[in-house]
Amino acid sequence: MLKIRKAQTNDAASMAEILREIGWSERRNSMPLEQVSGPIEELIDHSKKDSEGHTIYVAVNEENKAIGFINVHWVPFVMLGGVEGYVSDVFVSPGASGMGAGRLLIDAVMQEGKERDAYRLMLTNGKEKPSYKRGFYSKAGWTERPKVANFVYYYKEPWS
Ligand SMILES: CC(C)(COP(=O)(O)OP(=O)(O)OC[C@H]1O[C@@H](n2cnc3c(N)ncnc32)[C@H](O)[C@@H]1OP(=O)(O)O)[C@@H](O)C(=O)NCCC(=O)NCCS
Repeated sequence: MLKIRKAQTNDAASMAEILREIGWSERRNSMPLEQVSGPIEELIDHSKKDSEGHTIYVAVNEENKAIGFINVHWVPFVMLGGVEGYVSDVFVSPGASGMGAGRLLIDAVMQEGKERDAYRLMLTNGKEKPSYKRGFYSKAGWTERPKVANFVYYYKEPWS
């Protein structure tokens, strides 16, 4: 049985393992695990201290081990007169994929946004990724914006 709960500092190692299992970065996969999990610990601590601004949820198995996570930032917009929730990370361990964890994680964020009376949620999704091709977000009721381009300005090597 999978459950959703807020991330705790000691989930960082499992979250780092999930990122490595997904394997999107050769550099990350060749680092010592602590080098990957250290910054994640800091992010979890930051989210816990500023819980108005950020939430990290984990999906956990029967052993309370994180097998997936989602990270959302509650951004106040002057223009909207309200808050946009920016979902920056959604990852489920490939070994636990297809068991509903991803949907539970996105549902938890959608529920929190509703409780916060947020204006909307926003995220980016690579068009070549299976999640896009299989309609992960559209099945959860999300829509693609027809008129808005997603611009980025890189300070570091282009990643995605
Ligand atoms: C996309 C992802 C979060 C889905 O999590 P999941 O726990 O496997 O998904 P669920 O079991 O909740 O299934 C919900 C929907 O996700 C999609 N899905 C399921 N398995 C998937 C997989 N291996 N890859 C992509 N999408 C998948 C399907 O559309 C599924 O709906 P369906 O059962 O009606 O076909 C997960 O596969 C993942 O972490 N992928 C790599 C990272 C990624 O692409 N993140 C999202 C974009 S930033």
